[in-house]
Amino acid sequence: MEKKTRIIAFANNKGGSGKTTSCANIGYSLAAMGKKVLLIDGDMQLNLSLSYFTEDEVLEMAASEKNLYHAIRKQDDLTDYVIHTPYENLDLIPSSMLMSGMEYELFTKWQREFILKGCLKNIKAANTYDYILIDAPPTLGGWVMNILCASDYVIMPVEASPWGLFGVANMFEFLEDVRRINENLELLGIAITKVDARKNYYKQTCETLRSADNVHVFDNIIRVDSEVEWAQDDSKPILVHKAKARSAGEYMELAKEIDRTWQ
Ligand SMILES: Nc1ncnc2c1ncn2[C@@H]1O[C@H](COP(=O)(O)OP(=O)(O)OP(=O)(O)O)[C@@H](O)[C@H]1O
Ligand SMILES: [Mg+2]
Repeated sequence: MEKKTRIIAFANNKGGSGKTTSCANIGYSLAAMGKKVLLIDGDMQLNLSLSYFTEDEVLEMAASEKNLYHAIRKQDDLTDYVIHTPYENLDLIPSSMLMSGMEYELFTKWQREFILKGCLKNIKAANTYDYILIDAPPTLGGWVMNILCASDYVIMPVEASPWGLFGVANMFEFLEDVRRINENLELLGIAITKVDARKNYYKQTCETLRSADNVHVFDNIIRVDSEVEWAQDDSKPILVHKAKARSAGEYMELAKEIDRTWQ
């Protein structure tokens, strides 16, 4: 089958819902399955970059001219901004703290919702990647609009907690707004994360989400696992940090479920 690049954003305006952890580990799992993957760090917190590189390395990338912020500012082709991670099939476009000024940068630009889409045009047209995964910040402004206008699909990680559900309606409304200008954007699914299986509360979160109309919730959920934080501390995906960790297996199963969408 001919290779076609699919661009998937990880977005939810609720902070700490597992966007970056999911993007980093689903990305690694897909690469381990033999898919070619490009990760894009769209957040000034640099967390996706820190999932693969040490703090010193990430700060160096952030201080250089070769990061997402400068590409957007110059409306440059992102092909030249790709760096290889230490892992086969897995590349990254790093971020910068200057991304905090992105809303201002975008404001004066013509057709400002489509700047990222333009910067990604050549990479997408080349079809060398199976997946481009974009980690969004926990906001719903012009920059996240850019991320969603550059994407074909969105995965929404939702934390299995009372406050995790809070704001889901806002996100759905925002997606409706985005669809006015990117009508092909599809909510691929909700990924339920940070489930504490000792408590029954998560079942209610799952039921509430699964009962919503026209919303797909992935079967594979991600439970709370202390190895997630150790892996992040080690700047490694969980599968590399500790292959037998429960969350490593769960993220692999979720990645397979996502990839099966197109089989
Ligand atoms: N399955 C898990 N088990 C334990 N801790 C987790 C798990 N998933 C994520 N975390 C922790 O929860 C916190 C938030 O996760 P993460 O950074 O992925 O969320 P986020 O949605 O990207 O946050 P932000 O909105 O700030 O970008 C992090 O400290 C992370 O280590
Ligand atoms: Mg994040």
